[in-house]
Amino acid sequence: MEGYIPPTSAGNLQDYEVASKEFTWASVDKEFDWSKGSVYNVAYEAIDRHALNWRKNKIALYSINAEREVQKYTFGELSRISSRVASGLTKLGAKKGDRIFVYLDRTSELYMAMMGIVKMGGIAGPLFSALGPEAVKDRALDSGTNIIITSQYLYERLLPILDDLADLRKIVIVGASGDMDENCVSFDDLLESGDPNFQAINMAPTDPYIIHYTSGSTGKPKGVLLGHRAMVQQCITSRWVLDLREEDTYWCTADPGWVTGTSYGIFGPWYLGTSIVSYEGRFDARTWYDILQRYGVTVWYTAPTALRMLMRAGDDLVKEFDLERVRHICSVGEPLNAEVVRWAMRTMNRRIHDTWWQTETGAHLICNYPCMTIRPGSMGKPIPGVIAGVVDEEGNEVPPGTEGYLALRPGWPSMMLGIYRNTPRFKEYFRIPGWYIAGDQAYRDEDGYFWFMGRADDVIKTSGERLGPFEVESALIEHSAVAEAGVIGKPDELRGEIVKAFITLRPGYKPTEELKEDITKFVKTRLAYYAYPREIEFVESLPKTRSGKIMRRVLKAKELGQPLGDLSTLDD
Ligand code: PRX
Repeated sequence: MEGYIPPTSAGNLQDYEVASKEFTWASVDKEFDWSKGSVYNVAYEAIDRHALNWRKNKIALYSINAEREVQKYTFGELSRISSRVASGLTKLGAKKGDRIFVYLDRTSELYMAMMGIVKMGGIAGPLFSALGPEAVKDRALDSGTNIIITSQYLYERLLPILDDLADLRKIVIVGASGDMDENCVSFDDLLESGDPNFQAINMAPTDPYIIHYTSGSTGKPKGVLLGHRAMVQQCITSRWVLDLREEDTYWCTADPGWVTGTSYGIFGPWYLGTSIVSYEGRFDARTWYDILQRYGVTVWYTAPTALRMLMRAGDDLVKEFDLERVRHICSVGEPLNAEVVRWAMRTMNRRIHDTWWQTETGAHLICNYPCMTIRPGSMGKPIPGVIAGVVDEEGNEVPPGTEGYLALRPGWPSMMLGIYRNTPRFKEYFRIPGWYIAGDQAYRDEDGYFWFMGRADDVIKTSGERLGPFEVESALIEHSAVAEAGVIGKPDELRGEIVKAFITLRPGYKPTEELKEDITKFVKTRLAYYAYPREIEFVESLPKTRSGKIMRRVLKAKELGQPLGDLSTLDD
């Protein structure tokens, strides 16, 4: 068909149809050392077992800092350093099952800390360093965090909220300077105190190794628990979807504060012993191309907003670089426009493989594979071993071409274990019997390709970051001028969506530009720099239900000039 992009070579997954028929999850077990009697622990499989063979001296991590200096670590080195972290944490009193947060920029210590926590049986809670103190507080209180590993400047950012965290016992500080509180330890001292030969703790497949906070349409962010069993799926999809091979140099641009940055920024590639590149700095088109070229990146996992920004930076820029070594490109997090796929074909002669999954799913579920024809704009087909469907309210599959709920048959290995201390919320995903309901609207075409249509709820995706309107509204009403706030995602060509806030003011406040700026700054520093409303509109009143709930659906329809739909529950 016109516009479809056929494969150029088969890749690791030679035949999708055959694999879909024959594949069993059990066949992946033999990849791991636990199947030969070693401990069951994702950190052991990602790092330690490579330190026992020739990969001991292979580079595991190229850690590029914001100044573009690089530090290199072999699997052998990371094994010993993360053992020191694990042992040091144990000496600080950390125990199996403790929630230990990692609030760091994307530096090498972040990787060491994550591995160390998981090795000693802890539940690692990676937090994006762009989060503000209030956002950290919400997460720390929800999870009863015992230890936070952070850096000096981020520690200082947290000072106003630390006293509120009743369960917090210790803070480990990278680059600690000045006098330290008695509950603080420097990262260097932690390493010094730790045993480099500490052995990873044996875990159960259903023990969690990570807690990722993510947003829904109601309430504060929820803690999604992923289990050690997820390794099976992360491993096989790193091979099939990311197409990783021994000789690859792989760059995942997602921050480990989000699931892509851990499932495929750390664990998946390291199960396969792949060298990964990590870059601390922020997006810049020239820098990104330079990293691809300079480090000879062969496999690249990124997001639509970044790709759109690269596209916008112009064809001349991309042509300045030799990107011939980039063999395979994947994308995740938001709809990948067909236009971007065509741009990559034109400028780099490479296909971009869209992948669909969620924090809650722990690993890839619906993807494009090197061996499969790409239909630009489609998310692809379910990975072998997974059954996906598009269903109606009763769970019946709807005919091809018909929009419905994107659903999965539960039970894939990396499916979340639960939502931390929130069973009702967990059960909501399974409200339609027999299915896991993802929260997205989609349709399937005649040939089994899935197409994303939108969210079924109010969740916002801005530059690929998932954001709940409730969080933003809660932050907004903390501002002294704000009486009420209703927040929606407004479609945006570059960022997918932007946050738009409708605000009513308290008596005595004037709707000025200065006030907008002040409110913006307030949200940025408290919640997260990406969570602020790029558009604010002051209004006289907000549409509400008779029970007083703000009707975001009405705000959105008005904003987009669409029909307002059923207004029977609207107050006056
Ligand atoms: O709405 C879908 C969108 O991102 C949501 C999951 O967000 P998060 O948990 O942050 O995980 C992102 C990375 C795993 C989904 O429910 N989404 C994710 N991938 C795609 C997507 N929307 C369209 N196309 C995709 N490929």
